[in-house]
Amino acid sequence: MGLPIRSKKLFIKTYGCQMNVYDSARMADVLAPLGYEMNDDPQASDLVVLNTCHIREKAAEKVYSELGRLRRFKEQRAGTDTPMLIAVAGCVAQAEGDALLARAPFVDIVVGPQTTHRLPELIARANRGAGAVLNTDFPADTKFDHLPPPRAAGPTAFLSIQEGCDKFCTFCVVPYTRGVEYSRPANAVIAEAKVLVTNGVREITLLGQNVNAYHGEPKSGSSPWSLARLINALAEIDGLDRIRYTTSHPRDMADDLIDAHATVPSLMPYLHLPVQSGSDRILEAMNRGHSRDTYRKIVDRLRSGRPDLALSSDFIVGFPGETDGDFYATMDLIAEVGFAQAYSFKYSARPGTPAADHPNQLPEEVKSARLSALQSLLTQQQTAFNAACLGQQFPVLLTGTGRHAGQMTGRSPYLQPVHVNASSDVIGTIVNAEIIGLGTNSLAGEIVDRARATHLTTSPLSRAVQH
Ligand code: SAH
Ligand code: SF4
Ligand code: F3S
Repeated sequence: MGLPIRSKKLFIKTYGCQMNVYDSARMADVLAPLGYEMNDDPQASDLVVLNTCHIREKAAEKVYSELGRLRRFKEQRAGTDTPMLIAVAGCVAQAEGDALLARAPFVDIVVGPQTTHRLPELIARANRGAGAVLNTDFPADTKFDHLPPPRAAGPTAFLSIQEGCDKFCTFCVVPYTRGVEYSRPANAVIAEAKVLVTNGVREITLLGQNVNAYHGEPKSGSSPWSLARLINALAEIDGLDRIRYTTSHPRDMADDLIDAHATVPSLMPYLHLPVQSGSDRILEAMNRGHSRDTYRKIVDRLRSGRPDLALSSDFIVGFPGETDGDFYATMDLIAEVGFAQAYSFKYSARPGTPAADHPNQLPEEVKSARLSALQSLLTQQQTAFNAACLGQQFPVLLTGTGRHAGQMTGRSPYLQPVHVNASSDVIGTIVNAEIIGLGTNSLAGEIVDRARATHLTTSPLSRAVQH
């Protein structure tokens, strides 16, 4: 009788954007054949991966405090027959590379976002014990060609279709951490979507740092497809009821994509379209490549084709040189457009980006005061949006069990969490639910019928704003 084989435990902590969430899932996929099983206790894990984000200073610093904690766990297991390996993946790994190893020499593996498929080989090298292993290449062949088919878990899934960014906004590290813009071939995306749907996925969110700049050749050598064309093709997949995409840049909101919002019923009436600022002067200094007015016009066109469309956005306050006047222009744009949801940040100077060298960096107090004024307006709009949903009927995709017995949870077309009382056989189905109550971060619904509901024709937001 041989010795029992100890299954290896894997813990992955994900920071940052949905692209990292997708990459973490794919890292788990690539490690599964090596016997690594996911668990949620870093202390008990043979391999701990931190999939990191470099977008703001705080995000990057969090990684180092987590590494301090992991170091103790690793030390406890040193010298036993089950030592712990620590890997840092993602955008901090890419941006800091050797500097990360100098600051945290107990890290075994540093791997950038474009070479996660090489993890098995990096682990093998680290296990040989000849020191830390670093791989921050931008290889010519893409990781997507080497990753195994995704294992779907649940009715919703992310699908990365585009990586990197060529826009070089003056505040942003992404073009440096993720590399140049790259679109996956449309046929590979469609094939991956079909695998997901076969495994029970009903809603797919297409991902990219600049997802609407997508220009994937269906197969190599043929002329590229736009995101709109890809969405139209995906909409044909039987069983794929909902399509979303994120994150978009206003500059790439092409006519055919705006039209898709009016013509493709499975494209959800909810769009994350970051604007960052409402001041033309700041938009220019940020190198965003569009004006406030262009943004307003895109929104108007989207809403005229799809009146029930709601928007979310990202904002940065306290960009170098931002005056009170610039800030009020942002507040004014928010009031004009009306957002169902938003993310907002204080400007954070990032090493190597042009804005970090701008002489007119603003004091922390100014940034904090502006952020709190901006967030209170955005929260007001979000509350009004949710309140306007009361009494409406929504198609809700049920995704899992809720916190209370007999409660199931799902998502509205606008990504709001919705709780309903039902048995677990509704999970994975879309039901028509009437919104009967408002929680702090969720809506309470009552199932009206199990047939697929039609979409709304009036946006709760347009009514919320009129009130
Ligand atoms: N590609 C997307 C955004 C990716 S980064 C776009 O172009 O909109 C996500 C968000 O982080 C950005 O929209 C921006 O609001 C914020 N962000 C990026 N760099 C930042 C910085 N240096 N300081 C503060 N916020 C930042
Ligand atoms: Fe960053 Fe701008 Fe590229 Fe978005 S478009 S990822 S903000 S550089
Ligand atoms: Fe962060 Fe990298 Fe995403 S810096 S936001 S994890 S692309």
